Amino acid sequence: MSIRRLPPELINRIAAGEVVERPASALKELVENSLDAGAAQVAIRLHAGGLELIEVADDGSGMAPDEMRLALERHATSKLPEDAIDRVTSFGFRGEALPSIASVSRLTLDSRERGADGWRIEVDHGADVGEGPAALPPGTRIRVEGLFDKVPARRKFLRSPRSEYAACLDAVKRLAMARSDVGFTLDHDGRRILTLQAADAPTRVAELLSHELDRHGVGIDCNRDGLGLTGVISLPTFNRGMADQQYLFVNSRPVKDRLLVGALRAAYRDLIARDRHPIAALFLDVPLDEVDVNVHPAKTEVRFRDPSAVRGLIVGGLRHALDEESQRSATGTQVAAPVLWTSSDSYARDLDRERPPVALREEQRSFTPIGFVPHGRAEAALQDVPSYPLGVARGQVAATYIVAETEDGLVIVDQHAAHERLVLERMRAAREDGTVAGQTLLIPQVVELDEPDCDRIEGAAGDLAEMGLDVERFGPAAILVRAVPAALGKTDVAKLVSDLAAEIAELGGPLSLRDKLDHVAATIACHGSVRAGRVLSVAEMNALLREMEVTPRSGQCNHGRPTWVKLGHGEIEKLFGRK
Ligand SMILES: Nc1ncnc2c1ncn2[C@@H]1O[C@H](COP(=O)(O)OP(=O)(O)OP(=O)(O)O)[C@@H](O)[C@H]1O
Ligand SMILES: [Mg+2]
Repeated sequence: MSIRRLPPELINRIAAGEVVERPASALKELVENSLDAGAAQVAIRLHAGGLELIEVADDGSGMAPDEMRLALERHATSKLPEDAIDRVTSFGFRGEALPSIASVSRLTLDSRERGADGWRIEVDHGADVGEGPAALPPGTRIRVEGLFDKVPARRKFLRSPRSEYAACLDAVKRLAMARSDVGFTLDHDGRRILTLQAADAPTRVAELLSHELDRHGVGIDCNRDGLGLTGVISLPTFNRGMADQQYLFVNSRPVKDRLLVGALRAAYRDLIARDRHPIAALFLDVPLDEVDVNVHPAKTEVRFRDPSAVRGLIVGGLRHALDEESQRSATGTQVAAPVLWTSSDSYARDLDRERPPVALREEQRSFTPIGFVPHGRAEAALQDVPSYPLGVARGQVAATYIVAETEDGLVIVDQHAAHERLVLERMRAAREDGTVAGQTLLIPQVVELDEPDCDRIEGAAGDLAEMGLDVERFGPAAILVRAVPAALGKTDVAKLVSDLAAEIAELGGPLSLRDKLDHVAATIACHGSVRAGRVLSVAEMNALLREMEVTPRSGQCNHGRPTWVKLGHGEIEKLFGRK
């Protein structure tokens, strides 16, 4: 066996494997360097998604020629003045990015300090090509060409210029949100994509996120135990099929941290369907000694000293903001979050295709009343409509929707969706004051399930009891149910238990007990709800409306769909062309 020290070029290339995965990661490192150099303006040019060219020019401090040479060496950095790796405030701190990129591309580094002349150094796959004077304004300009051209193992994993470009754009957006005080331009294949002037954070975020968030967003500003959280999140009804518009920052560093993503998810639990995702830009401020940024090769994950405090702040803060917002919309006289008839679901789907919401007319057509037989006796319209926010029930349509009249318009409620939410909130409230009632079955029911499912139910028996569901193992492949939550009324016990087993299997991961219980409660609530298709009396309808008005989060069902929509008098008039 012979052990030898690797040559520097090879070392750099190995480091590049970790630091530079694709054009977007090289771009990110270059822009971070510009920001660290105090740039006020960063100009980015890309060709072919960065595969052919990545150029980043800044008006930052610039470097003297000997600093430039050092910058291209491994582990050379200007950013840890006191070797204080635990108190890093710059993006960079390792001195790895430039030599790594230079080892897998043709790199041209131009730089000029104020009051000095410019200088250029060219490197081809780690080898010096030459250097000499260069003409440029004060600052630094770095060109990276043919990234991975000579590294087939990497080249193979690159995607089309189009998707590499998408990743680059995403990287730029994240850094531009992190540093709204800096101006940015981005050109791709000669076309100007972004022009961002220095601005405050909310303005910058608004420029880069969906503009719809003006109407469908909730502002966040909270702090606890020295941690601060600001930003904006979407209302649950304004969601996407992908989690691609979640911008998270820790002390102004863009991160894709699992803890933060999980906390964001948890804040929306039961407000949004599993396969839908909120939009968010959240800025977490943490004391420097509470967070370690040196845990990930691309610096996109961090480690918190007290992860549960961070999680608590995020889940608690967002939840509170969403609750207040939903309370406001249920008791306000304004139109609820969904726009006219456009259900939030189709609205969200449209969002994904990035086109405006379905026009009113189109939706109207799909609402033709063919086959809709009105149920429930409609009451004659009164002169005086009491000013309930959700109005007075006038009737039921298709045994599914309640139609109510308000002072200023007409409200339609999806009875199943609404009731499901009410049952869940009732169970939650009861659980919180420890008053959950189980209703003992006259004859305990045996439910047959496969063994892993039985194990799951058995394992959760304690939690389930807390919700009034009394279960016990009954041989290898059966569960005995003795009591069900009283809130449920009559229910298909076998289906409930097998749904719960599936639910627990899916949750299996590292959720907190409280989160699990909430999911389970949501599954139970769904079983206990008034089904679509059940005819309700007018009194029942009104009772449902009144309960919705005083129940938190009653504007969305447990899957995040709206439970009611409102059509104001003005909108009705528009429909009939009176306005
Ligand atoms: N645009 C720039 N303007 C001025 N100086 C720069 C610029 N880019 C790089 N430098 C200098 O080159 C050094 C090396 O940069 P490099 O990105 O390789 O390492 P780093 O930023 O210190 O750490 P990291 O590897 O974590 O990014 C920096 O510390 C900085 O002094
Ligand atoms: Mg750097």
